[in-house]
Amino acid sequence: MVYEPQEDSYLLLKHVKELAFGKVIDVGTGSGIQAEGAAMSPNVNQVYAVDIDEKAISELKKKEFCQGENCKVTPLHSDLFANVSGKFDTIIFNPPYLPFEDDDKDTSLDGGEQGHELIEEFLNQAKKHLTPGGLILMVFSSRTGKEEVDKAIKKQGYKHELLEQKSLAFFEELYAYRITIA
Ligand SMILES: C[S@@+](CC[C@H](N)C(=O)[O-])C[C@H]1O[C@@H](n2cnc3c(N)ncnc32)[C@H](O)[C@@H]1O
Repeated sequence: MVYEPQEDSYLLLKHVKELAFGKVIDVGTGSGIQAEGAAMSPNVNQVYAVDIDEKAISELKKKEFCQGENCKVTPLHSDLFANVSGKFDTIIFNPPYLPFEDDDKDTSLDGGEQGHELIEEFLNQAKKHLTPGGLILMVFSSRTGKEEVDKAIKKQGYKHELLEQKSLAFFEELYAYRITIA
């Protein structure tokens, strides 16, 4: 099922609307909420909206903001950056960030055995696709392992800024990051 926007989506969206610029890619676009938000900004020229889930992409193609001559959004099926070439000024990612807990794999939620593995792979691939001066806007949870994410960011030659932290029920915290090349 295509991921219905949740608190993580809305937290990230706020910063996407404010900070996205130039040529943008929304990785793991799902419903397209981040791609649509970015496209509304006058600072954004073009948005690629990619997802590993073919159903998400086929549903996105039917949405109004992906139609017509002046549409800025291009939906594309891709496993992270596999089907994408070129560089982007803004890379958006609301990843699956929860530790894999049972046999029922859910690609919208499972970020790997510990929750941060897909983020690490994303950060590794994103380097080749980020313009100098470009930024990554990403959200994740305390359940992902903040220390591990911070370590991966540093190890891969990035630096980060905490844009916003939001408390959820059951002591879970959400973090919205701006990540740039160090
Ligand atoms: C937490 S949802 C976020 C959806 C939407 N961007 C939002 O903010 O509400 C994660 C999305 O990432 C997609 N996804 C999971 N693994 C992926 C991968 N390897 N490459 C691209 N997209 C992936 C899922 O299909 C899902 O749509």
